Amino acid sequence: MSSNSHEKKRILTGDRPTGKLHLGHYVGSLKNRLRLQKEYDCHFIIADLHTLTTKPDKPSILELRDNIRETVLDYLAIGIDPEISTIYLQSAVPVVYEMNLIFEMLISLNRIAGLPSLKEMARNAHIDPESVPFGLIGYPVLQTADILMSKAHLVPVGKDNEAHIELSRDIARRFNQYYGEVFPLPEVLLSDVPTLVGIDNKGKMSKSLGNAIYLSDDSKTVEKKVKSMYTDPNRVRADMPGTVEGNPVFSYHDIFNTNKNEVEDLKARYREGKVGDVEVKEKLSLAINEFLDPIRERRNYFSQEKGLVEEVLYLGTKKMEEFANATLKEMRSAMGLYGAWNKIQRIAKERREREVKT
Ligand code: TRP
Repeated sequence: MSSNSHEKKRILTGDRPTGKLHLGHYVGSLKNRLRLQKEYDCHFIIADLHTLTTKPDKPSILELRDNIRETVLDYLAIGIDPEISTIYLQSAVPVVYEMNLIFEMLISLNRIAGLPSLKEMARNAHIDPESVPFGLIGYPVLQTADILMSKAHLVPVGKDNEAHIELSRDIARRFNQYYGEVFPLPEVLLSDVPTLVGIDNKGKMSKSLGNAIYLSDDSKTVEKKVKSMYTDPNRVRADMPGTVEGNPVFSYHDIFNTNKNEVEDLKARYREGKVGDVEVKEKLSLAINEFLDPIRERRNYFSQEKGLVEEVLYLGTKKMEEFANATLKEMRSAMGLYGAWNKIQRIAKERREREVKT
């Protein structure tokens, strides 16, 4: 194993490009990445191959083009800095397909088949439990290929992905046992932030539930969505005492309103029945819009500069490809799998050369 101990530790994380990112993504992972990119050598994967595990049809593949661009734009808009971090496109680095196959040999089906995360993904995609695609079972193995080809030490993910990283660790350990130390054992870095509830208070904010505020929403859209937000349902008049705890409007205030005095004042008056929902929501809209303004500004800049998003992704992908090629070379030589083919090529070539001479 090359000794990179003087260098920063390597991080890999990322997202499937399923569309625009929302406040839930920001709170749950993006914010954390902004902090990490200063301390670590960060790599962000746009995991388009993983979307095929539930949606391999052609129209879904065509949709990826826009979604990839939007995801990169969102990264740049929140302040992921391509000068210090690498953003890359999974499907464009051929190494991942090869590593995926090798790693499949190093884990038992039993170890994977029971993972609740896969069952949930199948359920969300309306896939019948009896017809789960082979590739969906392979989801965490493909993820392992992402992680190990980049030799990541740390993988920041949410709870739903924790078991996948443990599996990556097992595969790395098994590989190193069989063939020699090639891979660092990746560790999970769990985000401790609870998931952000949706504006309808019916489960976590998500695109599929239609209860999200997007990082790219304009201020009018934010106002409209906040106006429609679920609050204390028992409070039918503004002069009735209301409940702050578990009220999503106040959860959002706690997260996005930087004026803590205002938040405390609103909470106190809400409990006493001395403020209307309208005012509480108006102030929340203002706070969220203030939070989103610099994000919108950067998003605007990056989307207007023709070809900039593509250039960022191109350079990041080339950089990752180079690194992954080196990892693959190490892996192949440790395994000795290509020894047979190398020998065959050498002997065949020698014979050809002899024939030319005679
Ligand atoms: N599985 C991640 C998700 O939930 C995406 C992903 C793919 C990923 N490859 C990864 C995350 C490697 C961390 C490391 O969307």
